[in-house]
Amino acid sequence: MPITTEKALPAPTDIPGLMLRRAECRDSDVLAKLITQLGYPTVAGSMIVRMRALLDRPDDHFVIVAEWRGTVVGVIAAALSFHIEHDQAYGRITVLSVDEAHRSLGIGAVLLAYAEAWLRDRGAGICIVNSHIRRNDAHRFYKREGYRLTGYRLEK
Ligand SMILES: CC(C)(COP(=O)(O)OP(=O)(O)OC[C@H]1O[C@@H](n2cnc3c(N)ncnc32)[C@H](O)[C@@H]1OP(=O)(O)O)[C@@H](O)C(=O)NCCC(=O)NCCS
Repeated sequence: MPITTEKALPAPTDIPGLMLRRAECRDSDVLAKLITQLGYPTVAGSMIVRMRALLDRPDDHFVIVAEWRGTVVGVIAAALSFHIEHDQAYGRITVLSVDEAHRSLGIGAVLLAYAEAWLRDRGAGICIVNSHIRRNDAHRFYKREGYRLTGYRLEK
């Protein structure tokens, strides 16, 4: 599926040595580690199954990794969704995780900017993200990137 986002992948970034590319099943091992660091213990075997399901839906889902000097150090996943109460589609960031040893280098911001562009190019008018109430550091990050608090997420 052709990428219409201005910055086609794989793409270099403004951070020397850092590039973005689409995630593949062969990344399952490192993706499992990044998702585990996010607080959801995951093994590579489960990740392959999840990746296959996501890669089967390229029109409205994507998973992008940040590779620094050949090593995957971050991942972002996003999905395009549709309102019943508005005409315009919206985007959801479903996962964002940067390796603990590579945080505060701007990698999260680069991944987020790419995801927003991908969603915008496919018609999303807004972008939303669910973030657990205890993730204060992540909230600081999102606010810095222009997000504002608009509601609660309720779970049952
Ligand atoms: C939030 C996160 C994706 C940001 O990625 P990043 O590459 O560190 O982002 P940037 O370098 O662009 O921005 C860094 C900012 O992120 C915030 N941040 C959030 N968690 C952080 C962490 N554990 N360590 C360092 N910075 C963190 C800080 O505000 C930081 O700003 P500062 O360096 O001025 O203090 C990354 O820290 C991470 O993976 N955290 C754990 C998982 C998580 O909470 N994901 C979001 C789920 S909704």
